Formats: sequence, C-alpha cells, structure tokens
Amino acid sequence: MPEPEFRAFDPAQVARLYDKIAGEYTGRFGEDLRPGTGDRAFLDVALASAPSRGPVLDLGCGPGQIAAITVDSGRPAIGADISAGMLAVARRRVPLATFLSADARALPLRPGSCRAVAAFYFLHHLPKALLPQVLAEVRRVLPAGGILVVATHLGVGEQLVSSEWNDAPQHLKITFYARDELATLVVAAGFSVESVASRHPRPDEFQAEHGFIRARAT
Ligand SMILES: C[S@@+](CC[C@H](N)C(=O)[O-])C[C@H]1O[C@@H](n2cnc3c(N)ncnc32)[C@H](O)[C@@H]1O
Repeated sequence: MPEPEFRAFDPAQVARLYDKIAGEYTGRFGEDLRPGTGDRAFLDVALASAPSRGPVLDLGCGPGQIAAITVDSGRPAIGADISAGMLAVARRRVPLATFLSADARALPLRPGSCRAVAAFYFLHHLPKALLPQVLAEVRRVLPAGGILVVATHLGVGEQLVSSEWNDAPQHLKITFYARDELATLVVAAGFSVESVASRHPRPDEFQAEHGFIRARAT
C-alpha cells in the first residue's frame, strides 16, 4: 500500500495533481454539461435568473465548461483556477473567455463585478474550515441579487480518497457536505437559498451523491 501523498490541504499539491491529469480529466468529464443533462438544466435555470450586467465567473473552472456555455450564449465569462495545466486546456477550448490563475480564497476581481459565480465540483478541494472564507470572497465579487450556483459531493466530513488517474492511484483529501450543512453555510455568507437538488452518481463518476444549490446574494 503506497503512503498517501495528500494527507492535508495544500493548494499547491492540488494544482500539481490537476496539472498532471488535465488532459485525462477533460477527456472524461469535459463534456458533462452538454444540453439535456440534469446538471446543465440546473445551471441554465440559475444563470438565466442572474442579473444581466457583468461576467459569469466559472470558479475552479478546470477545462472551462461553464465559461464555454456562457460565451456561446453571447455573454462574457471569466474562469479562475489554480492549475496552470487546466487553465491551458481552458484557454484552448474557450478562446473568447478570460482565464485567471487565481485561488478562490483571494480573487483578483472588483467587488460586485460578476453577475453570477458557478462553482462546479470544486468546493470538495477545500477543507471545511476554509469554506466560510471562500464563500465570503464569492459574495464580495457579486452584487446584491447576483447568483451563486454550486455542484458538489454530498456526504460527511473530510476523507482521504484514492482515485485512478493516468493509470495510477492518486490520493486526495476530499470534503463532503450534508445538504443542509452546505445550505446553512451559504446563508451565513450572505445568500438566500432558492433551490437545492441532488442526484445519484453515474458509474464513471466519484461514488457520492451529487448536490446542487442555487442561491441569491442578499
Ligand atoms: C474536479 S475539477 C472541476 C472542474 C470544473 N469546474 C468542472 O466541473 O469540470 C476541480 C478544479 O478546481 C480547481 N481548484 C482546486 N482548488 C482550487 C482553489 N483553491 N482555487 C481555485 N481553483 C481550485 C482544480 O485545479 C480543478 O481544476
């Protein structure tokens, strides 16, 4: 049994992992938000209810799926990520969006400058203790009425999980949220929750319930 590499939260290690797997990740999950999926429907409703001014921020953007959907609808999009490898893929796939190398804890964006923030399958990379700081940063870049839409893994606590990437096991500390727990944290950060949903994972996905929240900045 190899010694797990990722015992504690370390954004540099998370970035290094995604640098290594950017191509494989994009091949496996880079089209997950195609029209007709439940995840896409939840996202579309959320973005349609956002104010009209400003870009959508695709936070923890990976290959930039949400940035792509936004620019395809004729609207501006910004993607932010800590992985240079993921950002390189996103820039190639979505040349009309702006991509920033940025940690969600400190976004290089003006207060109230984004109409919506979409954080899909990214919050699980933050330790639970850091979530209030990240949600406060998200709230800062939204105006009152701005939309936050989240997809993440549901469950309990923080766990070391192993998954197969590039034909090798990769070990990561992952944070899981109970539905109500996440909603409570979102409300505490200055949002009203408008919709929550969940679904079972597909066989090719990480085997945890997937949870979705749409919330409006108050
Ligand atoms: C599982 S991928 C999800 C990518 C994309 N949102 C999607 O749904 O396809 C998680 C992404 O979050 C990024 N990430 C992890 N921690 C981050 C942080 N603190 N700030 C910004 N991005 C982060 C990773 O580099 C990775 O690209």
